[in-house]
Amino acid sequence: MLKRLYRWLDLRIGVGEIVEKELTGYLLPRNINEWYSLGSVLLVIFALQVVTGMLLMIYYVPDADKAFKSVTFIMNEVPFGWLIRLCHAVGSNMMVAVLILHMLSTLLMGSYKAPRELNWVTGFTLLALVQGISLTGYLAPWSQLSFWATTVATNSASAVPVLGPYLVEFLRGGKLVGPPTLGRFFALHAAVLPVVIAALIGAHLFLLKRTGISAPPFGREGTANPFEAQQYHYQGHPGGIPFFPNYVLQDLTSISVYFAIFLAVVFFWPGMPFTPDAFVPADPFKTPAHIKPEWYFLANYQTLKIFPSELLGLSVQAAAMTFLALLPFIDRSPERHPLKRPIFLTLVIAGILLWIALSVWGHLS
Ligand code: HEM
Repeated sequence: MLKRLYRWLDLRIGVGEIVEKELTGYLLPRNINEWYSLGSVLLVIFALQVVTGMLLMIYYVPDADKAFKSVTFIMNEVPFGWLIRLCHAVGSNMMVAVLILHMLSTLLMGSYKAPRELNWVTGFTLLALVQGISLTGYLAPWSQLSFWATTVATNSASAVPVLGPYLVEFLRGGKLVGPPTLGRFFALHAAVLPVVIAALIGAHLFLLKRTGISAPPFGREGTANPFEAQQYHYQGHPGGIPFFPNYVLQDLTSISVYFAIFLAVVFFWPGMPFTPDAFVPADPFKTPAHIKPEWYFLANYQTLKIFPSELLGLSVQAAAMTFLALLPFIDRSPERHPLKRPIFLTLVIAGILLWIALSVWGHLS
């Protein structure tokens, strides 16, 4: 039956040719490793966020008077509503975690280097957009946590010279966080950002297909990356392993490991994405004692606190982000093996330790 369907489609739209070109005949480096499957894991996570988000929208009401009640209704009354909501909330945290791992792996294997600068830049923009979609989604339940975390986050824009107060008012749709903030944040969260992210993922994958996937700098292939800027060149891997079925098995293994961890958190640590303030409706007149942003914003939060002025803290962060975004244009040496780049490796490890230390400090402070 399946064979007949395949032949029917092949006669009409040449499915065989696509399978040969994109799957069985798409050859990957022989020394490819598990880290390359994180991109596929991210695709699955994004798809799951879209599906669970759509399901939540059936009962969620983006109105300041009704949002909290609608979320409570989803958790307590809608069949499996709790599961959908937990998958969405835990999934957003997991997506940031896997994004960071994917970024670190391309960083350490030097695959951001020429000719893949644009893969890095589109990826880095995706990281910023995913943080943006998480931040805007945080307000949706209209809890004390949502309300005050958004107040703190939008307030940091006030440090921008001259434009600061206007920027805060533009973000909030008023002087304070209120019903208009929920309207604009929800529009960004459920309509604008998902479309922009999907389009950018498309661009990221298009670039991958145009440059060809990099070979890991370990093992049998050379470690240097002799890029000739004279003309366009697709990096193929003759004699490599087929994407289908070989690497698809690796992708499926990584996706299964991801699901094991993800579902373990959903079922055994369902409180992970929430603090007690997430279960209290927003009250603009009652500031909770401890309002902290999500774990991946803790380092930014602490940086703002340790500098004598918010503007200085913001500028240091902007400089660090710009440096990272433009890294492929700054680090131009062709060497990709991490152990043959000792200064770079030391800086990466120091950067990771600093980020962890600031996050822990932000959590405890
Ligand atoms: C929603 C977010 C993202 C998705 C869905 C995604 C997906 C993918 C996929 C499927 C690949 C090919 C296989 C692989 O190497 O894993 C890839 C490669 C790549 N990604 Fe991403 N990615 C995302 C975010 C990022 C981020 C945040 C960065 C870095 C800042 C990044 C940098 C790269 C680079 C440099 C490559 C080329 C790797 C090579 O050719 O060896 N990506 N991405």
